[in-house]
Amino acid sequence: MKDQIQIRYTKESTAGSNLSCGGNLSYLDLAPGQTILDLGCGRGRETIEAALAVGPDGLAVGLDLTAAMIEKAELTAAYTAEVQNGQAHVAFVQGDIEALPFADETFDAVISNCVINHARNKQQVYREIYRVLKCRGYFIVSDACTREPLPESVTSDPQAWADCFGGAIPRESYLDSIAAAGFPDLEILKSREYVKNGYDFISLTIRGTKPQIL
Ligand SMILES: C[S@@+](CC[C@H](N)C(=O)[O-])C[C@H]1O[C@@H](n2cnc3c(N)ncnc32)[C@H](O)[C@@H]1O
Repeated sequence: MKDQIQIRYTKESTAGSNLSCGGNLSYLDLAPGQTILDLGCGRGRETIEAALAVGPDGLAVGLDLTAAMIEKAELTAAYTAEVQNGQAHVAFVQGDIEALPFADETFDAVISNCVINHARNKQQVYREIYRVLKCRGYFIVSDACTREPLPESVTSDPQAWADCFGGAIPRESYLDSIAAAGFPDLEILKSREYVKNGYDFISLTIRGTKPQIL
C-alpha cells in the first residue's frame, strides 16, 4: 500500500495539482519562536508559510513518506528569500506518520492536510501526534472521512488508498480514534460534504489540544 502511495506522490511532486482537502493554516494561532510540525507536508508550501509565521526564533518541520516530495519542498525552501537570509527556519524529513522520528514534547502545534486517511492505523498516528506535542500544544488536521463504511472491494485496493479514497473511514470512527489517543475535547472547525466515486465523503478540519497532565 505504501508503495502505491509513493508512486502516486512521486508523480504529483512536480505537478501543479492541489492536494489539500481543507485548509488549516488560517486556524493556527502562531506566535514567534514556536515549533511546528507539518505531517505529510507534500511540496512544503504550508510548512514554509508556518516557518515564516513563527519567525527567526521558531522552526517548522515538514515530514513526508515520499522522497520526491521532500526534494521538491527543500528546493522551494531554498528559493524562499526569508529562508535564505535566516528570517525563517524550515527543515524537511522523510518519514512515516505512524512512527515519528522526533522526541516527546517537541512541538507547539502539529498540522496535517489530507494525509492521515492514507494510514492503516489512524489511532497510532494520533498517538504519535500526542507524544510529540508539548502539554497544551494542539493539532489542526484536515482530512477526508466517509458517512458509511466503504465496501471491502474499495478498502482492499492499494490504489484506492493512494487516491485519498480507500483509507477513509466513517466520521464517528475517525473522531473516536483521536479521542482514544488522548485528546478529550475535539472541535470541528470546518465540515464539507462531497461525493467521491459515488460514495458520501466529508472533509473535516479538526482541532484538538493535548491536556495539561497534573
Ligand atoms: C494529498 S497529499 C497532501 C500534501 C500536503 N499536505 C498538501 O496539502 O498539499 C498527501 C501527502 O501525504 C504523504 N503521505 C502519505 N502517507 C504518508 C505516511 N504514512 N507518512 C508520511 N507521509 C505520508 C504523501 O507522500 C503526500 O505527500
